[in-house]
Amino acid sequence: MKNSVTFFILILFVAGLSSCNKDQNNPGYTFYPDMQYSQAYETYTTNPVFADGYTNLAPAEGTIPRGYMPYPYQSKSTDEQIKAGLELTNPLEATDAVLAEGKRQYDIFCISCHGDAGLGDGHLYTSGLFPAKPTSLVEGRVKDLPDGEIYHVITLGSVSGLMGAHGSQVRPENRWKIIHYVRSITK
Ligand code: HEC
Repeated sequence: MKNSVTFFILILFVAGLSSCNKDQNNPGYTFYPDMQYSQAYETYTTNPVFADGYTNLAPAEGTIPRGYMPYPYQSKSTDEQIKAGLELTNPLEATDAVLAEGKRQYDIFCISCHGDAGLGDGHLYTSGLFPAKPTSLVEGRVKDLPDGEIYHVITLGSVSGLMGAHGSQVRPENRWKIIHYVRSITK
């Protein structure tokens, strides 16, 4: 009995040693390879089980990610822009923090075309790199535009397409912050 215990411990010891390896990046001999190397399909691999051949499935049709609301107006037509202007209101208060973040976002996404003071004289236009004249955001037409229309233009771009859509770059709450900021620099 005593001998068999010693023998068993010896076997364990030898087995333990044999899994050591000088190469620190190599896990050494694998006793249970099917436990160490998963048999499951990896997320981004091809997969014979599913119809489209990929492990990573597309979300079910009609579902949306948590915390995300799809934008309800999908066309940048004048009609849809006006509708957005009538139906959407800025959900945020123009607090100091909101205005500060609005300026930060404006300086990233809008200043290059619409300029420091929103006059439409941004560097891209004045340097001749961008051919279309950006609208002034602080006078004339935009001054009287409902917030929802500006939100619509940021999201989908202008009706003519001269200003591109920024919906994929500027988060919804940041669009509203930019609008508060633009209003705050409007004379
Ligand atoms: C690449 C240049 C460019 C950038 C960046 C840009 N705009 Fe514009 N924007 C334009 C141009 C050009 C027009 C005039 C479009 C037209 O006449 O169709 C315009 C027009 C507008 C209008 C008026 C739309 C209307 O119905 O008359 C608003 C509002 C506006 N931009 C807001 C913004 C805001 C806010 C940002 C930042 C999120 C922004 N733009 C970023 C070029 C730009």
